[in-house]
Amino acid sequence: MSFGKVTRRRFLVRAAAAGIVVGTPRLSAAAQAVASVLVVPASGPGPIPVMLNVNGAAHALKIEPRVTLLDALRERLQLTGTKKGCDQGTCGACTVLVDGRRVNSCLTLAVMAQGKKITTVEGLANGDQLHPVQAAFLQHDGFQCGYCTPGQIMSAVALLAEKRPTDEASVREWMSGNICRCGAYPNIVAAVRAAAGSAS
Ligand code: FES
Ligand code: FES
Repeated sequence: MSFGKVTRRRFLVRAAAAGIVVGTPRLSAAAQAVASVLVVPASGPGPIPVMLNVNGAAHALKIEPRVTLLDALRERLQLTGTKKGCDQGTCGACTVLVDGRRVNSCLTLAVMAQGKKITTVEGLANGDQLHPVQAAFLQHDGFQCGYCTPGQIMSAVALLAEKRPTDEASVREWMSGNICRCGAYPNIVAAVRAAAGSAS
């Protein structure tokens, strides 16, 4: 469409540049309401002292209560073995143990883990000696890109500690919270079953 020599597109561009509100007054008011919401700065409680016990070491942090355990581990303690995949509790890449139970650290606030024993993949080996589950993952080639592997290993460690059945179907079921986008499941299951043998 054109208005004489001014095209509709050019008119809209000029109107926008001149600050002219295009559209009905009602739409304009709605747009202004949305804009006013978007510019409201986020605010919340400021940093508080949080003491975390990770892999046997105490760490005194000062963080906002909204900080997840995952972000506290990775960004404040530089324990980057724990991975961030989905950041919404669906992939299991962030699995750590809290008092021996596996949790998605992306769904756990760091303050909730105070006074508890947190174990990450960095805390499994004994010096140069790998944990049996870590050794089994290496031996059975239980990974491809490796991104899901720390979460898989933490989940497998908990599975064995929980004394779950270790037939193939059960291992798949009890490891189902850990997604592997590379599809390394056959080797992961083999590794877990082998570790069950060496750990029992
Ligand atoms: S990053 Fe936590 S479940 Fe995916
Ligand atoms: S090894 Fe790549 S996502 Fe599991």
